Amino acid sequence: MQRITNFTKSNEYRSVIHDLIPGGAHTYSRGDDQFPALSPAAISHGKGAYVWDIDGNKYLDCPMGLTSVSLGHAYEPVLERVRAELAKGVNFQRPSYIEREMAETFLSLVPQHQMIKFAKNGSTVTTAAVKLARGYTGRKLIAFPGDHPFYSFDDWFIGKTPCNLGVPDEISALSVTYKGCDIDSLRELFNQYPGQIAAVITEPERNACGNGCGCPYGKEAPKRFLQEAIELAHNEGALFIVDEMITGFKTHFPGTIVKYGIEPDLTTWGKGIANGFSFCALTGRKEVMELGGIRNKGAEKLFLISSTHGGETHAIAAGLATISEFMKHNVVAHNHAIGERFIARNREVIARHGLSDYIEVVPAQWMPIMIFKDANGEVSSGLRTLVMQEMIARGVLFQGAFVPCFSHTEDDVEFFAEAMGETLEVFVRALENGFEQYLVGEPVKPVFRKVL
Ligand SMILES: Cc1ncc(COP(=O)(O)O)c(C=O)c1O
Repeated sequence: MQRITNFTKSNEYRSVIHDLIPGGAHTYSRGDDQFPALSPAAISHGKGAYVWDIDGNKYLDCPMGLTSVSLGHAYEPVLERVRAELAKGVNFQRPSYIEREMAETFLSLVPQHQMIKFAKNGSTVTTAAVKLARGYTGRKLIAFPGDHPFYSFDDWFIGKTPCNLGVPDEISALSVTYKGCDIDSLRELFNQYPGQIAAVITEPERNACGNGCGCPYGKEAPKRFLQEAIELAHNEGALFIVDEMITGFKTHFPGTIVKYGIEPDLTTWGKGIANGFSFCALTGRKEVMELGGIRNKGAEKLFLISSTHGGETHAIAAGLATISEFMKHNVVAHNHAIGERFIARNREVIARHGLSDYIEVVPAQWMPIMIFKDANGEVSSGLRTLVMQEMIARGVLFQGAFVPCFSHTEDDVEFFAEAMGETLEVFVRALENGFEQYLVGEPVKPVFRKVL
């Protein structure tokens, strides 16, 4: 296979960017400490399932813009709709007509909910859901699964991570954690804080669930846990929030709550719903959402999301075009078929190299992940970084998760499997001799670390 070795412009970019932008990027998970030294520092453009770096190197894209690009980069039917909207202007003093069109369209997909509010970021909508729950219940505490990776850049979530500098302890104390998919640990939390928890928030399922997380529900896990957790929360007087930021338009169309007929009070949406454009949404039961309204004369007003750019028309148009493509082509079925093929082909390649004990392919067809272990069976960030380095050298931008999109083809999966086959020859040697012999630079580091 080809070898990518020229990172000249990337190295120059890396040498200046940290003087200009703290972290060198606007998202920590896009930062230099999340990639090997031999990697692109910045992307110049993308088309379909491919991206090009600033040195002109071309890569098969696997993470797809932090999972946000569900159809493909620069996907023409979305661009067409966006261009048409851009030509009409993007921001007005009163709402644009397109806000009603989107509200009616999106809510028609989510029969559980009657009202919707838009935003530009996922963190904005999860934080808005938390605020609504506090306003509705008059309680302070928010419960989330402490073993899940991310819910918001706001203090209610970040205060509970090791990376909590700048968040007062009083704020961190208002969030409490339970173990994901573990109803007993959630029940314990309600017993520990009687009458104090305003809401439970959780992702409805995670790709790791594809492995069977060892919980007593087995394959029924996401659905039964969600049903029992909602019942428990409601019995305890708390609201239940489902965060479909990652699962939305991936596990199902529009998401897991519709797949399983789950009835949370509030649900948050983002990432893949507008093919990478900045459009996110909070949907919910009318009675709760109406708290953010202005027509109940005499009622106390709750200041819900209110921002200059929340109704930006071209991003809403991108969302409408994305929804239309998902409906026209059954995109979810395509993406799942690609995910299935990815799982099968890579398991074959791994078995051929005798590495089935060291590399797991988690069978979540909507977003398969690979987990790399060392000779002692411990998950190894050094080996994962080495795999990233070797895959990048062969033209594949891969960090461990493969996010199927409508532009990925079976040929792309074959290309990936071929690159993985060659990479595993290095992996076998690294298992014996240590990854340090083969990795240039440092292993990637956790985003949420206390000390740099
Ligand atoms: C489950 C989940 N919720 C919320 C967010 C926040 O979304 P955003 O990055 O758009 O603020 C993320 C982002 O990764 C997420 O994965």
